[in-house]
Amino acid sequence: MTVDLTNVFQQIDGDYENLKELLREAVAIQSVSGDPSKRDETIRMVHWMKEKLEQIGTTCELADLGTQELEGKTIKLPPVLLGTLGNDKNKKTLLVYGHLDVQPAAKSDGWDTEPFELVEKDGKLFGRGSSDDKGPVLCWLHAIRAAQKNNIELPVNVKFCFEGMEESGSVGLPELLEREKNRFLAGVDFVCISDSYWLGTKKPCLTYGLRGICSFFVEVTGIKQDLHSGVFGGVIHEPLQDLMWVMSQLTTVDNRIKIPGLYEQVAPLSAAEEKTYDDIEFDVAEFRDSVGASHLPTEDKKTLLLRRWREPSLAFHGIEGAFYGPGEKTVIPSKVIGKFSIRIVPDMDPEDVNRRTIEYLNKVWAERGSPNVFKPRPGHSAKPWVVDVNDSNFLAGARAMKRVHGVEPDRIREGCSIPITLTFQELTGKSVLLLPLGAADDMAHSQNEKNNKWNYVEGVKTLLAYIMELGSA
Ligand code: BES
Ligand code: MN
Ligand code: MN
Repeated sequence: MTVDLTNVFQQIDGDYENLKELLREAVAIQSVSGDPSKRDETIRMVHWMKEKLEQIGTTCELADLGTQELEGKTIKLPPVLLGTLGNDKNKKTLLVYGHLDVQPAAKSDGWDTEPFELVEKDGKLFGRGSSDDKGPVLCWLHAIRAAQKNNIELPVNVKFCFEGMEESGSVGLPELLEREKNRFLAGVDFVCISDSYWLGTKKPCLTYGLRGICSFFVEVTGIKQDLHSGVFGGVIHEPLQDLMWVMSQLTTVDNRIKIPGLYEQVAPLSAAEEKTYDDIEFDVAEFRDSVGASHLPTEDKKTLLLRRWREPSLAFHGIEGAFYGPGEKTVIPSKVIGKFSIRIVPDMDPEDVNRRTIEYLNKVWAERGSPNVFKPRPGHSAKPWVVDVNDSNFLAGARAMKRVHGVEPDRIREGCSIPITLTFQELTGKSVLLLPLGAADDMAHSQNEKNNKWNYVEGVKTLLAYIMELGSA
């Protein structure tokens, strides 16, 4: 039997000020997992969420993950929040995952407003984490609150796993889940993660694939300290010159990877799979304009989506040790570390990609012929994830989208990575659905991150509809 949600949806619309207030509180907690000086805030965020979950009747525990070494210091890891709401043997169990930590942000990075103050403007809620991932996490809370207020019994038990280290590689979480396999994870029937985005700004979608990632560090040293470029320029083998030369050998101008053998590992594209791209709604010009670029390496819809979702890509992130402040500094840096990562897809294997990349870097370095010291090394890596879009979990997600938005959602993949997705799938043996709520232009990780008021409110409805649909899944 389908429960009519019309009135509940209206109530959710009417409850907007409360939804906004909660997001305001969450955004104000500066839970930047990558910044050791903000670790207490990250821990506070987990406690804040625990209290909210308890208010809706969830039994919560905080799983301690011990400590980590960061920038030469030993600091506490934020605990993982594990919650259980409902324990009815006759019901199936949904496990929800989300993250409470955010990327760094400062107004001086070019934000129009203070990143940790939620600001509503033109139907948009600006603030770090408003979309990635505090907004969607709060949508779960509101959805369940709305059901409770209307005396609607949830057709499933719900478990929550909310962490505070996702943006820093989910340190400690895979091991915790491993330990919880036969306890907290036992009896889970469906997993749902709302931590990805729509492909555009108007049409909802379900995500069935993510790329994996391999990160790299390339260190070049050779002089004992930074030097005056007037005094020493021209008579030194500069580490930064060497590094930039090596890094520039990794890609072509059209951003194709030059490391031999990588594209050969990509799973062949069947005609049937290729055909699924025809119907996907995606506006290349809108995408190009949204990033402010004048040209893209390809403006063909299908080629562009294939390159984003099912081909590897290489991106440069920065150079540690190189001068980057405003103004001029006539200096020769003595030690620089280049940082880049490669997004990987089936059937690429992280170990194999690491080996080929380091081999290529060493080969290029030999060609450079510099006497400086060269140390390339792999960092974190994660495997890609792709699943079948027709299992009962995905179908429940699709029905929920249809109930709220009136259209069948597109089935899309993502270029990004949520490494824990695969861990949940492997440990529970159950389907993991990625149910995106935010729009493509939310600018996660960037300046002026926002969540549209509309997406936030409709997101609450979507998650409620999804939970209700699981009753007949
Ligand atoms: N929410 C993102 C992942 C994401 C972004 C999925 C856009 C789909 C669309 C997540 O918080 C994230 O940023 N992941 C990192 C993982 C990395 C640190 C291993 C990423 O993809 O860079
Ligand atoms: Mn996220
Ligand atoms: Mn993120």
